[in-house]
Amino acid sequence: MTATLIDGKQYAQRLKSNLKEQIATFQTAPCLTLILVGDDPASLIYVNNKKKACKDVGITSVIHHLPADTAQETLITLIHELNSNHDVHGILVQMPLPSHIENAAVINAIDPQKDVDGFHPINVGALVSGDDSGFTPCTPIGVMHLIRHAMGNDLSGKEAVVIGRSSIVGRPLAQLLLQADCTVTQCHSRSIDVKAHVGRADIVISAVGKPAFVKGDWIKKGACVIDVGINRVTIEGSGKTKLIGDVDTEAAAENAAFITPVPGGVGPMTIACLLENTFKAFKRQQ
Ligand code: GUN
Repeated sequence: MTATLIDGKQYAQRLKSNLKEQIATFQTAPCLTLILVGDDPASLIYVNNKKKACKDVGITSVIHHLPADTAQETLITLIHELNSNHDVHGILVQMPLPSHIENAAVINAIDPQKDVDGFHPINVGALVSGDDSGFTPCTPIGVMHLIRHAMGNDLSGKEAVVIGRSSIVGRPLAQLLLQADCTVTQCHSRSIDVKAHVGRADIVISAVGKPAFVKGDWIKKGACVIDVGINRVTIEGSGKTKLIGDVDTEAAAENAAFITPVPGGVGPMTIACLLENTFKAFKRQQ
C-alpha cells in the first residue's frame, strides 16, 4: 500500500477533547434529544453510540424510543413539545423512519435552530446560498475536515467527484466542496461512466452504500479518497460478517495518496460533528 491512511477515529477524538474543554467552561450542559422510531438494529446502535459520545464530552442526552407503529401525528406532537422546551437545545430524529411516516413532514416540524442534523429546508437553503449561519449535516462537515487534514486548507481548483446524491451526504457535500472552490462533479445511479469521472478526480468521495463499488484502478495517482460507505458483508466460507466501504480500499491505496479506512474513517467524524452542532445550537440559545 502506498497511500497514507486518514485516521478519522484519532481526528474525531481530538475534536471531542477540544469540545469537552469548551463545554466545561459553561455552567449548564447542552442537551440533545434523540428520537428513534422502531427497532432497526443499525439505528439502535447508532443512537446508542451518539448517546455515549454525548456523555464523553459533557452533553446531556435523552433518547425517546417510540414503537414502530407510532402515528406521524404523535411524533410531530413530541417534536413540537421539544421545540418549546428551553432545556432541549438539539433534536435529532434517527433515519430511516418507518414507511408510514413522511420524512419531510417530520423534518419540517423541527425548529431550525434545534435542527442539529441540518436537514430542515431553512438550513438546506442557507447551505445552498453559501450562508454559513445555519446548521450543516454532520457527515459532510466531517468529510471536509478529513480532506483538509490530508490535503491542507486550500482546495481551490481541485477536481472533486462525489458519488451519491442523498440529502444526508452527497448533496450537502457537493455544496461544501463548491464553497471550497473545487470543481465539483456529482455522480449518481444514472451517471453513464462513473469510472471516467473518478479517473479525473483529485478528490473522490463515495457515498452510495455499495460494497467495493469503486475499483482501485479508477483512482488517479495521488488522489484523496474518502469512503463514506458502511456495508455489512458476509465473509466467504465462514458465515461471519464484516464492515467494508464503497471503495476497494486495498487496491485504491496503490494509487491514492490519502484514503480513509472503513471502519475508523468517516464514521467517528460524523458523531464528533453532531456534538459540535449541538454545542453550536446550545451557545446560540443562551
Ligand atoms: N441515518 C443515517 N445517517 C443519519 C444522520 O446523519 N442523521 C440522522 N438523523 N439519521 C441518520
